[in-house]
Amino acid sequence: MKLNDWLYKNNKVFCLSDLYFLLKIFLKEKNISKIADNYFLNKNQIQQLENIRNLYKQGMPIAYIVGEEEFYGERFFVNKDVLIPRPSTEILVEEVLKIIDRSLPKIILDLGCGCLNIAISIAKNTATNIFIVGSDISYPALLVSKKNIKKHNVNIKLVCSDMLLAFKKESFDIIVSNPPYVEEEYLKRNKYLYFEPRLALAAGEDGLYFIFKIIKEGYNYLKKGGHLVIEVGALQRKKIDKFGEISLYRENYWVKDYSNVDRVLVLKK
Ligand SMILES: C[S@@+](CC[C@H](N)C(=O)[O-])C[C@H]1O[C@@H](n2cnc3c(N)ncnc32)[C@H](O)[C@@H]1O
Repeated sequence: MKLNDWLYKNNKVFCLSDLYFLLKIFLKEKNISKIADNYFLNKNQIQQLENIRNLYKQGMPIAYIVGEEEFYGERFFVNKDVLIPRPSTEILVEEVLKIIDRSLPKIILDLGCGCLNIAISIAKNTATNIFIVGSDISYPALLVSKKNIKKHNVNIKLVCSDMLLAFKKESFDIIVSNPPYVEEEYLKRNKYLYFEPRLALAAGEDGLYFIFKIIKEGYNYLKKGGHLVIEVGALQRKKIDKFGEISLYRENYWVKDYSNVDRVLVLKK
């Protein structure tokens, strides 16, 4: 069967960007549109693609099906043990890179690192020699991190830790985190989150458990002048602004995402 015919048959089953992402990885081809008219799928490939289509129809995210996701211009291995990196988190990376330019940090912690997309994106986009640590409570997630370290050939240390428990006080110049922050009700109602680990999403009734914990405890783990850079949910700013522990820090500001929503809180010790 011609690839073009398969595309025509399936373009209503898949969302278009998912369909092209799937074929790019499945066929190891960069430009699917360019080859579609002359590429012939063999029986085995058609069978595999039919199996993938069935999983997709059941709601499994395309990133878990193909085992990879794009983030900050790079591909990362993912599986059911890690959150699929989101485009909104690229803002977090951008902000950390700006802080690095201003303050020349020596040591950075990516707290709740999942597949390590944040730490690796930072490492690959800084010229300065920074020691980067990625930590997560989930050992299976750290195994995915390890695979991504190898894939991207970067030097990042991994630590299995419940929040900051494994670390010494006043260790870090920057703590960056995209913690779990989904409200309980939202998590129950949204089927598309069903396939991702609860551990990466759930954060109590209002979704603020980890954000407040990191703001409060993170202060002690930063060096003087260090920055905490944290991603939050789209509607959480109001409640976070009222959280008294923010006043521990000398400076704070918000950064908006591409949809003009306050997404990243930066606190300076
Ligand atoms: C929202 S995901 C972020 C993953 C990745 N950094 C990203 O931005 O795509 C939150 C991560 O925090 C981890 N996590 C949950 N509870 C934790 C805890 N108590 N201590 C450390 N990490 C935790 C989860 O395993 C998950 O990998």
